[in-house]
Amino acid sequence: MPSLRLFFLVALLAAVVLAVPTPSRKRGLQKRSFKVPRQLNKAHPTGPDGAAAMRKVFRKYNFQVKADFMVAQKEGFIGLSKQDQNATAAATAGGNKTGIVAANPGQNAAVFLSPVVVGGQTLNLDFDSGSSDLWVFSTDLPARAIGQHAAFDASKSSTFKKTERAQWKISYGDGSGAAGTVGTDTVTIGGVKVANQTVELANQVSQSFVEDTNTDGLVGLAFSKLNTVNDGTKKTPQKTFFDNVMNDLDMPVFTADLDPDGTGVYEFGKIDTTKFVGEMTWIPVKAESGFWQFPSTKFAIGDKVFENPQGSDAIADTGTSLLLVDQMVADAYYAQVQGAQLNAQVGGFVYPCKAKLPDISVAIGDSYMAKIPGNRVNFATVDKANTTCFGGVQGNQGAGRQIFGDTMFKAQLVAFNGGNQSLGFGQKP
Ligand SMILES: *[C@@H]1O[C@H](CO)[C@@H](O)[C@H](O)[C@H]1NC(C)=O
Ligand SMILES: *[C@@H]1O[C@H](CO)[C@@H](O)[C@H](O)[C@H]1NC(C)=O
Ligand SMILES: *[C@@H]1O[C@H](CO)[C@@H](O)[C@H](O)[C@H]1NC(C)=O
Ligand SMILES: *[C@@H]1O[C@H](CO)[C@@H](O)[C@H](O)[C@H]1NC(C)=O
Ligand SMILES: *[C@@H]1O[C@H](CO)[C@@H](O)[C@H](O)[C@H]1NC(C)=O
Repeated sequence: MPSLRLFFLVALLAAVVLAVPTPSRKRGLQKRSFKVPRQLNKAHPTGPDGAAAMRKVFRKYNFQVKADFMVAQKEGFIGLSKQDQNATAAATAGGNKTGIVAANPGQNAAVFLSPVVVGGQTLNLDFDSGSSDLWVFSTDLPARAIGQHAAFDASKSSTFKKTERAQWKISYGDGSGAAGTVGTDTVTIGGVKVANQTVELANQVSQSFVEDTNTDGLVGLAFSKLNTVNDGTKKTPQKTFFDNVMNDLDMPVFTADLDPDGTGVYEFGKIDTTKFVGEMTWIPVKAESGFWQFPSTKFAIGDKVFENPQGSDAIADTGTSLLLVDQMVADAYYAQVQGAQLNAQVGGFVYPCKAKLPDISVAIGDSYMAKIPGNRVNFATVDKANTTCFGGVQGNQGAGRQIFGDTMFKAQLVAFNGGNQSLGFGQKP
C-alpha cells in the first residue's frame, strides 16, 4: 500500500505541470493564473457512496436528521403522486426513521483531492468552498489516527514557523471534528507559492476523518471570517490561501470545472470561456455569512417552473458531493421519477437505475437558473447488481439551508469572485 500511495503522489506531481506559466511581475506571484487538478485517489479505490455523502453533508452543517421526517415531508409537499406517497410510506414502515444509516467504517465516500505542497511536503487536500481553514494531518497525531494518510511533519520543514499559543478547532454537532496547533509555512498550489500561509496542524481528529483515508486535510475556500484560529484568548481568523493570492491574480477569481465523473480542474486567476456556452451570469453573494451564499426561491423540473417563496438560502460548496435542496424540492423532483422512493436505510431518494430522470434547475439569486440535465443527476448505485440508484439531488429534511455541491458543478462552470463577492455561472455543454 505505501508504494501505491507513493506512485499516486508521483502521478499527482506530474499533473501539476498543468499549471500555465504567465509573465512574472515585480512583486507577488510569479504566475498570475494557474490550474490544479482535482483527482480521485487511486490508492483507495472506493466508488461513490450515497449514504456516506448524506452523512457527510449533514455532519458538516450540523443538520438534524428528523425522527418525524416523514410527517414533515407530507406537509411541505407539492405535486407528489399517489403512487409515490405509497412507495415512500412503504420505505419507512418498519425502517429506520432517522433517515441516515450508521457509519460504515472502511467504506469511504469518493472524495476528490488536489496536490498541495506544504513546506516541501506533498499532501492530498480537499478544496472546500464550504469552510475556511487550511488544515492538515500532522505527525502530532497518534500513528493509529494517521493510518495511511500523509501527515505533515513540521520538524522537517525549514520554512515552518509555529504561532505560539494559537489553536484551531472545527467541531460538528454530532461531536466529531478536528483540532490542533497553528503555524505558517510556504504553501504551493499549481506551482504557485504563497509564503507565510497559515497552516493548521491537526493533533486531534475524530473517527470520520480517520476513516476517510483519501483526505489528508482541507483547503478552505470560503470567506476568511469563518476561519477558526484562536490566538489563545480570542478568535483571530486567518486568511485563506485564496485571500492571500487574490490580489496578485489577473482576476480575483477561482473556478471549479468538474467533469461528469467528479474529477476536473480548479483554476485561479482566470475564467476559461471555452468551458461553458453563452455568457456568464453574475450573482452577488451574502459574504457576511462567511459562505458563498445566495437566495434560491425557485426551481424547475423539466421546463415547468415552481416557486419556493420560503426557500432557504443556498451555499456553493465544492466540498459536498450532492445537490442538497429544500425537502419539498426533492419531493417534487422524485415525484416525477418512476419508481423513486425515499429509502431510510440508504438515507435518501433511490430509484431504478433504468428510470429516466428529468432535468432539474435551481435558482441562483433572482436572475439565473442553474440547470442539471437529468442524465447528470445520478450519483451512485446502491446494490451489487446495479439496479437501484441513489440520486445526486437529495432533500435537506427541513434544515433551513440548501447546499449546492458537485452535482451542480458537474453541469455548471462556477466562478468564485472574491473581488466583488459574487458567483459567476455558465452552463456547461
Ligand atoms: C396506495 O395505497 C392504497 C392503500 O394501501 C391503495 O389502496 C392504493 O391502490 C395505492 N395506490 C397506488 C397508486 O399504488
Ligand atoms: C438508524 O439510525 C441511527 C442513527 O444514525 C443508527 O444509530 C442506527 O444504527 C440506524 N439503524 C439502522 C438499521 O441502520
Ligand atoms: C505572517 O503571517 C502572520 C499571521 O498571519 C503575521 O502576523 C505576520 O506579520 C506575517 N509575516 C510576514 C513576514 O508577512
Ligand atoms: C463582478 O465581477 C464580474 C467580473 O469582473 C463582473 O462581470 C460582474 O458584473 C460583477 N458582478 C457584480 C455583482 O458586481
Ligand atoms: C456494477 O457497477 C460497477 C461499477 O461500474 C461495476 O464494477 C460492476 O461490475 C457492476 N456490476 C454488475 C453486476 O453489473
